[in-house]
Amino acid sequence: MLSIFDLMKKLSFFLILLQYVSCQSISKKNNMNQLKISKEIFGKTKENTTIHKFILTNKNGMEVSVINFGGIITSLKSRNSKGNYEDVVLGFDNLSQYEDESPYFGAIIGRYGNRIAEGKFTLDGKTYNLAVNNDINHLHGGLKGFDKVVWDPSQEVTDSMVSLILKYKSEDMEEGYPGNLKVKVTYSLDNNDELSVRYEAETDKKTIINLTQHSYFNLSGDFSKDILDHEVTIEADSFLPVGSTLIPTGEIRSVKGTPFDFRYSKTIGEDINISNKQLSYGNGYDHCWVLNNQDVGLRTVASAYHPKSGRLVEVYSDQPGIQFYSGNFLDGKLKSKQDSSYGFRSGLCLETQHYPNSPNEKNFPSVTLNPGEKYRTQTVFKFGYK
Ligand code: BGC
Repeated sequence: MLSIFDLMKKLSFFLILLQYVSCQSISKKNNMNQLKISKEIFGKTKENTTIHKFILTNKNGMEVSVINFGGIITSLKSRNSKGNYEDVVLGFDNLSQYEDESPYFGAIIGRYGNRIAEGKFTLDGKTYNLAVNNDINHLHGGLKGFDKVVWDPSQEVTDSMVSLILKYKSEDMEEGYPGNLKVKVTYSLDNNDELSVRYEAETDKKTIINLTQHSYFNLSGDFSKDILDHEVTIEADSFLPVGSTLIPTGEIRSVKGTPFDFRYSKTIGEDINISNKQLSYGNGYDHCWVLNNQDVGLRTVASAYHPKSGRLVEVYSDQPGIQFYSGNFLDGKLKSKQDSSYGFRSGLCLETQHYPNSPNEKNFPSVTLNPGEKYRTQTVFKFGYK
């Protein structure tokens, strides 16, 4: 007859075996899709809040790092045609530079991405005054926009993607915008090297909203170089001409015969220095293109290709516009994470969004969000090589 002692020994052996088998099956599952997320401390804000960095990786070796300060993509490693992974987004390796001097590197922009003329707009007869933080205009949500707030992070790993979910509650009249706004931004990486950014929001009072992602790409992986050799396409037959403070005039102008024609791939450098009033206002490209096929939903809207490395990024979005900014305000003063500095036009932005100054232009698509409605938009950056 078995003693209690023998029985317990047998039982514990059985339990250990069971644990081993289940561990094996979990790690096998993870090894199969190799989608992972890890977390480490990035730094502390001036208010002493600890900020974490989340590193999303896929089976190919692509790696995207995001911090829960500003929802900032601090690094994004994509492969070149030889299989080398390098960081292709401008940024910093410390929080204080992001707090003090960042030109929105890699950040989530809100509540209103881009400019609002003189920081004023009217809703139902009431005029709202926003911070004037860019010449005489409002830019990118104000003095403390979504690029400078602390987001509440959570993680999710499924069979097909790994996600970082960031939530933020923006209070009524924060930065002058009406309504308590609940915002959720989900970054997801899959094994096709696609980084999806999904934006969701709800308000309890009529308000305006225009969220975007402000990564500066330099696909060469060498931030001491400029981006003039990158080849760009933009799926747009027209663009929005601006005045001297970069507010659209209201005109929707055909790109045909202008330096703004990116319907067929051309290098950024090809036309950027020609004499053109619009280019002189932006000191290069800093304009919103009116994207084609606006009723289609998620579709190809733009791409950037760096022939020397073979790196390619294709942008898909459901948004009506894209601000293509060729890094014209970078002037070599910011120290980079590669021990160099960010020189003139060392990064390019492809910011999917609604048109600038929409709240003051009746003919532009609406940016109003009403209580009971859900704001939902998506942009996907697909990385590859040729
Ligand atoms: C704007 C630029 C601005 C840059 C950084 C872009 O979205 O179009 O004019 O300089 O953001 O602030």
